[in-house]
Amino acid sequence: MLFRKRRERLKAQAGQAAVDGFSALDGRMPAAELARQVLRKAFPDHWSFLLGEIALYSFAVLLLTGTFLTLFFDPGMVETVYHGPYTPLNGALMTQAYTSTLNISFAVRGGLLIRQIHHWAALIFISAIAVHMLRIFFTGAFRKPREVNWVIGVTLFLLALLEGFTGYSLPDDLLSGTGLRTAATIVGSIPVVGTELEMFAFGGEFPGYAIIPRLFIVHVLFVPGILVALIAAHLVLVVYLKHTQWAAQGRTNRNVVGQPMFPQFTAKSTGFFLMVFGVLAFLGAVAQINPVWKYGPYQADQVSTDAQPDWYVGFLEGALRLMPPWETDVAGHTIMWNVFLPAVVLPAIVFLVLFLYPFVEKWVTGDGREHHLCDRPRNRPTRTGLGVAAVVFYAVLLLAGGNDVTAFSFHVSVGALTWILRIALIVAPVLAFAVTKRLCLALQAHDRRLLTEGEESGLVIQTPFGGLSGGRRPLPAPHRYRALVRELPQPLELPAEGPVTRRQRLRSALSSWYYSDRVELPVTEEQQAEIEARIAPPPEPEPRAAPGPEPTGDRQE
Ligand code: HEM
Repeated sequence: MLFRKRRERLKAQAGQAAVDGFSALDGRMPAAELARQVLRKAFPDHWSFLLGEIALYSFAVLLLTGTFLTLFFDPGMVETVYHGPYTPLNGALMTQAYTSTLNISFAVRGGLLIRQIHHWAALIFISAIAVHMLRIFFTGAFRKPREVNWVIGVTLFLLALLEGFTGYSLPDDLLSGTGLRTAATIVGSIPVVGTELEMFAFGGEFPGYAIIPRLFIVHVLFVPGILVALIAAHLVLVVYLKHTQWAAQGRTNRNVVGQPMFPQFTAKSTGFFLMVFGVLAFLGAVAQINPVWKYGPYQADQVSTDAQPDWYVGFLEGALRLMPPWETDVAGHTIMWNVFLPAVVLPAIVFLVLFLYPFVEKWVTGDGREHHLCDRPRNRPTRTGLGVAAVVFYAVLLLAGGNDVTAFSFHVSVGALTWILRIALIVAPVLAFAVTKRLCLALQAHDRRLLTEGEESGLVIQTPFGGLSGGRRPLPAPHRYRALVRELPQPLELPAEGPVTRRQRLRSALSSWYYSDRVELPVTEEQQAEIEARIAPPPEPEPRAAPGPEPTGDRQE
């Protein structure tokens, strides 16, 4: 009885302290307003919206496990003789970086588990980013007003690759050292400044004594710091701009329908975070990854067979392997086209295209409106075709990164395989584009058929006289809505009068390439008017000076 009274008094005091604290905070910053807006933010439900979350949660696991590893890792490059718990390497000469990695694996309690979780989390982090980026691309979620978030996203992708590569290089084992050797050659291949840059980065001739301590700082401080800041900006923009959603009854280009951040989304997300953590912990516990003790310490004059980088660097390795051995001598200096073109120029072009894509598509479309409804990939055949072609191009490079293993496994010569992949690198993306575009148009035609003839009902109606009919029934309303509510821009026409500039000609040609192939759907004028209303962009915000009702930031009908 006495305890109950005391407990209730303490509970009341704690409640009052929370209210007082919140009021004090609210008096100094817009806490109530902010909390109201953030906690009520609507999250539309769709499995593809979880991909960004997988990236986020694996990043959280990376930070947690990485902090643990940093306590025990020593990036020193001075070599000493090993006498430790991994007896097969006793007496071998190795750097402190490699020794400490062995110690984390064999002497630190739980060290190997944490190392493995960290490595798996890195692989899944980058995979999740890549697939998340593809979902943004194929659904057109990069269009106005989300172009800046796309640019932040591509920067995150670039930084994630750098973070992965620097981490992979830290243990200074034979495999990671081989990767660093490749990186040194890539830097050295840049014409005119390459050698100087390589010397600067490595603090002298490769491998030197400086690179691992430098990479350590980049890996545990610089890149994670920038990643944390950019991820925060990325998520703030997701909240501020609201999430895109799939067209469905009640969901238009002017509203966003979903579960509120609190409590529904928070509860689901916490569960999802625990699931991601659980899967990573399970993988770390049962699936061996990067057993550096098997490779041995890095020796500049040795290289192991089957040397493969982690999957996300494989495309670069593949590009290097496919490139013919072209070199030019200019005034006693060698220009290494065989390294510079595939490993410097190609990635630079890939990332430039990624950064610029939303702006290029906007220019081609000539459309300055806001878009909050996801595109169905079939309704944008050219964009979808380009995306699939890019994925195929990437896949061929990735395959080429393991050409030695493939050649060995399938008993073909490496030379023949290299030629097959060189041809595939050019032909396969073109084929993939053509086939995907046709498939998208076929799917549009399928939608048209469903709308005109209805869907299979699985039933047959037999008349008393034996006649058979039926078998199809009208498409249910949600499916009709999904098929009909689509935005298909019209190709831009050339001006009918006056001189036509080359720029206009190019824009019109591109626009026609993008948008002239389509299958028109059977819509009445009334339906068309309704569709227009659903896809109409939200009204432009009121000018700041104008007096009016308090802005809520919601896209509303
Ligand atoms: C560290 C890497 C990243 C993390 C942690 C991350 C996280 C997220 C999360 C949690 C969301 C909301 C849920 C969703 O739509 O999936 C989101 C949305 C978004 N992300 Fe990312 N992302 C990352 C990288 C990228 C990349 C590489 C791109 C594109 C190049 C990108 C572009 C976007 C865009 C445009 C949205 C808004 C989507 C919409 O409203 O439908 N993100 N991101």
